[in-house]
Amino acid sequence: MAIDFQGRVAIVTGAGAGLGRSHALLLAERGAKVVVNDLGGGVDGTGGSSKAADLVVAEIKARGGEAVANHDSVSDVASAANIVKTAMDAFGRVDILVNNAGILRDKSFGKMEIADFDTVVDVHFLGSAYVTKAAWPIMQQQQYGRIVMTSSNSGLYGNFGQANYAGAKMAVVGLMNSLKQEGAKYGILVNTIAPVAATRMTEALLSPELLPHLKPEYVSQAVAYLCSEACGATGDIISAGAGFYAKMQVMESQGMFFGIDAKVTVEDFAANYAKITDMSKPQHFGSSMEEVAHIAKPFIK
Ligand code: NAI
Repeated sequence: MAIDFQGRVAIVTGAGAGLGRSHALLLAERGAKVVVNDLGGGVDGTGGSSKAADLVVAEIKARGGEAVANHDSVSDVASAANIVKTAMDAFGRVDILVNNAGILRDKSFGKMEIADFDTVVDVHFLGSAYVTKAAWPIMQQQQYGRIVMTSSNSGLYGNFGQANYAGAKMAVVGLMNSLKQEGAKYGILVNTIAPVAATRMTEALLSPELLPHLKPEYVSQAVAYLCSEACGATGDIISAGAGFYAKMQVMESQGMFFGIDAKVTVEDFAANYAKITDMSKPQHFGSSMEEVAHIAKPFIK
């Protein structure tokens, strides 16, 4: 089945470089009209230039596609709303939003300034929330939307020196988990990508032998599917990089029920810690209420 985006309008944030550029090129190649957003700053988020977004728009147009540039920051409510306004003004609708813009402020936690925390959370988490918030009523009204968050294995599994980034990258997963429920009845599907790719963000962090095999294009295929009409999934986290794709999920052990109103002591908990945390039969819940229903089972006659 061919996947195309004829008649669809996509916003890709941070699309002036790296992964975002690759996502924007692929969506445009498959027929989407694309808003290429990028404030054109450094990896640490400082500075800015219209060049990054403008060059990608020129690239899309040179290949026969349709695109407009937007140079606003995702990390401010008004400018985030302006990104969505750019799409509405140029193309009259928004079907697809890829929240991709990102920065790094790596330092070990002891040395990390609070400002490094705030800035990283502002771009990754609040930026994703702000742009999504502006696009949401449009998608609700048209009963169609595809949103992709960009997380990271740094958040999902942890990484030294990235407490700010890891926290922000898990926060977008929480955002997705709620929005997948709220969007369902409006035809809005929300998924998350956890990419690995050779970009300016990772060139100093990953091994040189690996870098040539980590083309951003290998991630964009998964993003494009998650943005398509063909995709029926919502709430999925897809790990993608180097031609490898997998689903990631929060799992819970079978756990241990001590009995209704059991007087569990700290020592009881300690003595059973291995059983409580035994992950040999993991289970997943589709919502917090599903987990509560599971906990409540012994109480319901
Ligand atoms: P990149 O640095 O090449 O691209 C990020 C783009 O976002 C830049 O063009 C930058 O100007 C733009 N940007 C930054 N702050 C912005 C803001 N406030 N408003 C609008 N645009 C802004 O980095 P890369 O690797 O392409 O990263 C893309 C996304 O993928 C990021 O969210 C990153 O955290 C995530 N990611 C990347 C991984 C990788 O292996 N490259 C691994 C895991 C996650």
